[in-house]
Amino acid sequence: MAPTAGDYVLGTGQVEIARLGVQHRAWREVMLGAWRRAGLRAGWRVVDVGAGPGYATWDLAEMVGTAGAVVAVERSPRFAEELRREAAARGLPQVSVIEGDLMQLAPQPGCDMAWCRWVASFVPSVATLVRWLRESVRPGGRVVLHEYADYGSWRLAPPRAALQEFVQEVMASWRDSGGEPDVAPALLGELRRSGFSVISTRPHLFTATPGQLAWQWPAAFVAVNASRLFELGRVSAEWVTRVTAELAEAERDPGSIMITPLVLEIIVERR
Ligand SMILES: C[S@@+](CC[C@H](N)C(=O)[O-])C[C@H]1O[C@@H](n2cnc3c(N)ncnc32)[C@H](O)[C@@H]1O
Repeated sequence: MAPTAGDYVLGTGQVEIARLGVQHRAWREVMLGAWRRAGLRAGWRVVDVGAGPGYATWDLAEMVGTAGAVVAVERSPRFAEELRREAAARGLPQVSVIEGDLMQLAPQPGCDMAWCRWVASFVPSVATLVRWLRESVRPGGRVVLHEYADYGSWRLAPPRAALQEFVQEVMASWRDSGGEPDVAPALLGELRRSGFSVISTRPHLFTATPGQLAWQWPAAFVAVNASRLFELGRVSAEWVTRVTAELAEAERDPGSIMITPLVLEIIVERR
């Protein structure tokens, strides 16, 4: 499928929507822990920053309840449409959807919390994102972020060469589209400089064996993104076959261990 307007480097088609679902299930427990650590409560107004097709949005909607509000901000028209359709299907009046680019969009003042996961790696300006967050949460409000700190930590043990090439190619593709995979350290510095106090930071990395959900998350990413890299004209069909065949081989080996990309959880409070 050719890239469309408002599309981003990972694509926005049905396979990417399904992959984001696998990713959400693998990370849901960690995410709920982060929200608990940030003090999320019923009745809060929360902005889901770069919400994608909305998996975390539905969890947030349940937690804030109808006395609260969830504003899902998303640039991709396809994801925004999915958000609107699904919010209506689920009967969630507390959810509203704003379609727009965080690099230009007006902030959403007065939020009690902002949730931002796997978005900062894809924006051209972390400073603009942080300014938007600062203007959107009230003084004393919290921002909770799950962003990559070391994407290159992703590997297989025993080591597999094609997966290493894949990881490097993914990082290059994000950089070429104006993003930065290992964005978390710069993000933390920018938050500190911009009037936020750090409540906590916490690294998250899984060591998974074949069949575990934490394995399926990166495996699903390879399945979808190897083809996406081909679609973007970055790699050959032969390369895609080699990467996917190698991963299938690792999956058949019960001794394989998948070490996942390192995510940094950051919880800050606006001064
Ligand atoms: C990897 S997905 C993560 C989606 C969701 N946060 C989650 O955790 O499932 C990144 C999302 O950020 C959105 N995004 C990237 N750059 C954006 C921008 N400048 N403005 C608004 N949304 C953006 C993409 O369209 C995509 O939906």
